[in-house]
Amino acid sequence: MSPLKYWILGGCLALLLIQWRRMSLKYDHNEYLTKTLNKFLVPRWVGSVGHDDINEFLKEELTRLGFDIINDDFFDVYSVNNVIGVLNTGAKRFLLLSCHYDSKYLETTEFYVAATDAVSCALLLNIAEELNDFLHQEFANRPDLGLVLAFFDGHESVDGVLYPSPMLLGSINFVHVEVVALNKIDLVISFKSIGAPDQIYMSKYQRTYALHDRLADIEQELRISGDLSKCHQLFYKLKDHNNDIADDHISFLKKGLPVMHIVPYAYPEVWLQEADNLDNLHWPTIRNMNLIIKRFVYEYISNRTLRTYSIG
Ligand SMILES: *[C@@H]1O[C@H](CO)[C@@H](O)[C@H](O)[C@H]1NC(C)=O
Repeated sequence: MSPLKYWILGGCLALLLIQWRRMSLKYDHNEYLTKTLNKFLVPRWVGSVGHDDINEFLKEELTRLGFDIINDDFFDVYSVNNVIGVLNTGAKRFLLLSCHYDSKYLETTEFYVAATDAVSCALLLNIAEELNDFLHQEFANRPDLGLVLAFFDGHESVDGVLYPSPMLLGSINFVHVEVVALNKIDLVISFKSIGAPDQIYMSKYQRTYALHDRLADIEQELRISGDLSKCHQLFYKLKDHNNDIADDHISFLKKGLPVMHIVPYAYPEVWLQEADNLDNLHWPTIRNMNLIIKRFVYEYISNRTLRTYSIG
């Protein structure tokens, strides 16, 4: 490379860094995240009042953030309503981030709010909120890439029984009818059970290991720059491959798409208990997760031609 090219490349990277600092400084409080999470903390099993409220809330927020909404409603024993938000609808490819917004119906607990599942949904909305200016500016002249936020429904069973495996109705339907054409999806990142204390996150698939590796590096970079809250390390460059739980990414995986599953190594201790509530969430984990994932999404979208690895 000629010296001039080095200067140009260096200049571009510096600009990227400055823009990033400006954006992260603007959001040193987490008012929107807290407010959004609180909204989710109600029983919201398929068919409940809380479920319908959250469904409305998701559509309102995504609309406010400038996303096009695709209603993916269908009937499969229950009435299931995925909420899909798309930015840059006409793009050739999409980054897809997903969580599920329904909670499980449990006979044993009156007020089960599945806080660690609510966190994933609140994080996705919060990242869309905090990156909103960047996303709209960036996508204004980007025919190559868009963003899909998928809030799946019908993940949990509603028969009141404690331990059947999840139904995953929403994600199965999404993949079956190709609500977004599967050959346009670049990468699926599925979030699950985030925000309990003492948890760590490992790579789940060899195919996306390089990206997981990058997540771990981003965490270290943010720690060094002093942006993170005091908290144990979340992302480890460890391969916990061939050891994953049933979740909404499975249908995508079966169709051969590259998938990252952001899920802790062990289930939260409060999993499927009434104690999975606001009191037992670990805020340093949530804050740091927000910063790390936000940075990753920003970088993934900014990368365009810089992207040299192949995930295909
Ligand atoms: C961005 O591109 C660089 C250089 O190819 C790569 O190392 C990095 O992992 C990419 N980051 C993301 C989040 O895709």
